[in-house]
Amino acid sequence: MGFVQQHPLFLSFFLALLPFSTVAQTYRNFSLGSSLTAQEDNSFWPSPSGDFAFGFHKIGSDGFLLAIWFNKIPERTIVWSANGDNLAAKESKIELTSNGVFTLKDPGGEEIWSPALAGSVAYAAMLDSGNFVLAGQDYQHLWESFDQPTDTLLPGQVINQTGRLVSRYTETNYSRGRFLFILQGDGNLVLYTTHFPLDDVNFAYWTTQIFGQDFALVFNISGYIFARRSNGSIINMISSDAPSSQDFYQRAILEYDGVFRHYVYPKSPGSTIGSWSLASPGSFIPSNMCFRILETTGSGACGFNSYCRHDGRKSCHCPPGYSFIDPNDVMKGCKQDFAPQSCDEAYPDTHLFDFHEMQNTDWPLHDYEQFKSVNESWCRQACLSDCFCAVAIFRGGECWKKKLPLSNGRVNNTDTEGKALIKIRKDNSTLKSEDPNKKNDQSRLIMIGSVLLSSSAFLNLVLLVAVFLVAYRFSHRKPKMNQTSQFMAGMNLRNFTYEELRKATNGFKEEVGHGSYATVYKGILLDNLIAVKRLNNMVKESDKEFKAEVTAIGRTHHRNLVQLLGFCDEGEHKLIVYEYMRNGSLANFLFESNRPSWYQRVQIALGTARGLFYLHEECSSRIIHCDIKPQNVLLDDSYTAKICDFGLAKLMKTDQTGTTTAIRGTKGYVAPEWFRSMPVTFKVDVYSYGILLLELICCRRSFDLKAENENQMVLVDWAFDCFKDGKLSMLVEDDKEALDDMKRVEKYLMIAIWCIKEDPSLRPNMKQILQMLEGDVEVECPSDPYSFTSSL
Ligand SMILES: *[C@@H]1O[C@H](CO)[C@@H](O)[C@H](O)[C@H]1NC(C)=O
Ligand SMILES: *[C@@H]1O[C@H](CO)[C@@H](O)[C@H](O)[C@H]1NC(C)=O
Ligand SMILES: *[C@@H]1O[C@H](CO)[C@@H](O)[C@H](O)[C@H]1NC(C)=O
Ligand SMILES: *[C@@H]1O[C@H](CO)[C@@H](O)[C@H](O)[C@H]1NC(C)=O
Ligand SMILES: *[C@@H]1O[C@H](CO)[C@@H](O)[C@H](O)[C@H]1NC(C)=O
Ligand SMILES: *[C@@H]1O[C@H](CO)[C@@H](O)[C@H](O)[C@H]1NC(C)=O
Ligand SMILES: *[C@@H]1O[C@H](CO)[C@@H](O)[C@H](O)[C@H]1NC(C)=O
Ligand SMILES: *[C@@H]1O[C@H](CO)[C@@H](O)[C@H](O)[C@H]1NC(C)=O
Repeated sequence: MGFVQQHPLFLSFFLALLPFSTVAQTYRNFSLGSSLTAQEDNSFWPSPSGDFAFGFHKIGSDGFLLAIWFNKIPERTIVWSANGDNLAAKESKIELTSNGVFTLKDPGGEEIWSPALAGSVAYAAMLDSGNFVLAGQDYQHLWESFDQPTDTLLPGQVINQTGRLVSRYTETNYSRGRFLFILQGDGNLVLYTTHFPLDDVNFAYWTTQIFGQDFALVFNISGYIFARRSNGSIINMISSDAPSSQDFYQRAILEYDGVFRHYVYPKSPGSTIGSWSLASPGSFIPSNMCFRILETTGSGACGFNSYCRHDGRKSCHCPPGYSFIDPNDVMKGCKQDFAPQSCDEAYPDTHLFDFHEMQNTDWPLHDYEQFKSVNESWCRQACLSDCFCAVAIFRGGECWKKKLPLSNGRVNNTDTEGKALIKIRKDNSTLKSEDPNKKNDQSRLIMIGSVLLSSSAFLNLVLLVAVFLVAYRFSHRKPKMNQTSQFMAGMNLRNFTYEELRKATNGFKEEVGHGSYATVYKGILLDNLIAVKRLNNMVKESDKEFKAEVTAIGRTHHRNLVQLLGFCDEGEHKLIVYEYMRNGSLANFLFESNRPSWYQRVQIALGTARGLFYLHEECSSRIIHCDIKPQNVLLDDSYTAKICDFGLAKLMKTDQTGTTTAIRGTKGYVAPEWFRSMPVTFKVDVYSYGILLLELICCRRSFDLKAENENQMVLVDWAFDCFKDGKLSMLVEDDKEALDDMKRVEKYLMIAIWCIKEDPSLRPNMKQILQMLEGDVEVECPSDPYSFTSSL
């Protein structure tokens, strides 16, 4: 501000000589006693040309910002403000008091803001440069808005060492934001992120790295922005090539997104449609903000869980399955739109999650695990089975696990090899929304349920009433829930209306399965495929069966069990809704299509064993399936085995060792004890599993009437003969993969033979079977399955 006119007469004379000189600045004099009141009319003091104004800008319903703005531009563009962090109420007043104090007070007389002054003010003036000044008696400036910039620089403005710009919070919220631009005392010019909401600096994302004294950041009136030494040499040119100041308004701003940009706006109305545009294509720093910020604390260039993309301009986005916490404030980051994965081992829900692939995207730093020399499917599985893992990054045989919140997210289009695997819940409907407050109620209900299902008929009746009373209380405690989103108390089960399911199945059109007491239909609900099982309207027994099934299945959650989604119980209409398994049953897969690969069969054998082990020993109420067979093992999209049909399930109290009951199960798979007066135990499932395992090994049914040889008709007999005679390869015929893996074929065969021992006590339990399958335990050589004595 070297050129200060000090005398009004001289000023007029000067102006007459140099009418267009940009340094000619007429003082509009607001003298002692002047004041402005915050009102709806946006009262202001204009600069002589009217280009700028000083006054109150209204924000929201009752907030006023004391500010300077471009006054000839329709869209309000604020270049300086006094009280962004502390808006003034209506009727607040900025006043130049008669004793030379300049102060902003609220209607109660409380001071909101006042500049630091060394001396008393004689007058105030809004200059045509956009500088608002307070001057003393001698016309010396006691205070200038140019010396106290907020986030914007105007032509003619200079920042000395230790001067700074602070970004605003959002485009329309003028409170202090998350970024700083400082000309440091050491001469280094730096863009920083802050430890928001504090102002202290966090990460430097742009620097000049040149040090010295008497440096300045200059926005000269020709529209150049640069860092300059005291001797005048330019250290760093930030923006040049701007169009002429004569024809364009100019400003440079550290924007709320952390980018420092130089904008211009055409002065003459009508020349173009007025809008702020970059002074030149490259007039902003840093050139790619997304790549610059790599914070060890803080969210990075965008908010937590979001990622940054630079296509000419920085923008922030949420990954699939996430959305902005506040769309008007994207720096707040993104939130998960689905219930997170459960870490409760009693309720594993891994099977409900899947990945969405994002090419070229990464959230660098903050991996909590890293693996080398792995393949992508390994990486996926590692993240899927880890409840902490939200995202896995896979790049060139390396796998990184990330947990929430994600930070430093960015898209790197030149990174063609890397990809992010975003873990999302497959079914993003509200079907599985979980209310954590229900936890206690849930365990109580399960206890009641498990007692109910394992005691006498009379007790059952009493407890049934109790359950319904509890359920009634829950359903009436939440009156806001409507019928269609009603959950069965304490479980993630939805209570569907018959009408809903009729619609979902298009009037029970597509039948996908048929059993003695139920028919299964395919349906669509909220874009998700479902299987609706309609219990045939038969004897009263089905009523009891239904309740048993719903309560038992509702509590099971395992990757290798078909997930129950809900049910319908409207008088004669009893329906159960499961997740739909696209790849049908194991029976079809094994016997009707081309022979599945040995590797796939091994995976199915393992999956089925894990599901059964869970039913027998891990779920809260131990369950005997009673009808394990290939028709009851379904395959999901990735051919993961899922056990279904608990229709014959009988719940057992953990201390109960045996129970006798009418024969259940299916011929060919049922254990011999069903036909004898022996207690039925978990070992009946082991027997059926043994048969299933044989079928998996040999890819044929346990009974094959069309077998070439009579002695091959019964699979069990033939398999044992082959085993005894050491002719294992006959069992797998020309299956190349299996022939290459004969050790495993033999092991699985021995396990199967142990499973089908006549004497249930000689059969291993599911835990031992799993250990043997997985190779943790050696398998001993079994004797003839029909002999009642151990080979040991
Ligand atoms: C501004 O106001 C002060 C005080 O009223 C007065 O002394 C001064 O001459 C005025 N200056 C101009 C340029 O009008
Ligand atoms: C910057 O330094 C120059 C020269 O020392 C001085 O005239 C000017 O008032 C200073 N500006 C600020 C904002 O301190
Ligand atoms: C601006 O943002 C700050 C920080 O989040 C908040 O406290 C303030 O209420 C916001 N102001 C307005 C006018 O929305
Ligand atoms: C502004 O700076 C540029 C670059 O140093 C220079 O060429 C130009 O003459 C300067 N303009 C004025 C009015 O000083
Ligand atoms: C200014 O000072 C720097 C460093 O001392 C020097 O490199 C440069 O040549 C000087 N420029 C001028 C115009 O004297
Ligand atoms: C991936 O690696 C695992 C273990 O290293 C291996 O079992 C599997 O076959 C590999 N999958 C593919 C598709 O290469
Ligand atoms: C972008 O990806 C390329 C290729 O992998 C890599 O060389 C470069 O360092 C990456 N850039 C950033 C900023 O991560
Ligand atoms: C979530 O549901 C919406 C609408 O129901 C659907 O458009 C979207 O594709 C689903 N997202 C995922 C990841 O399944």
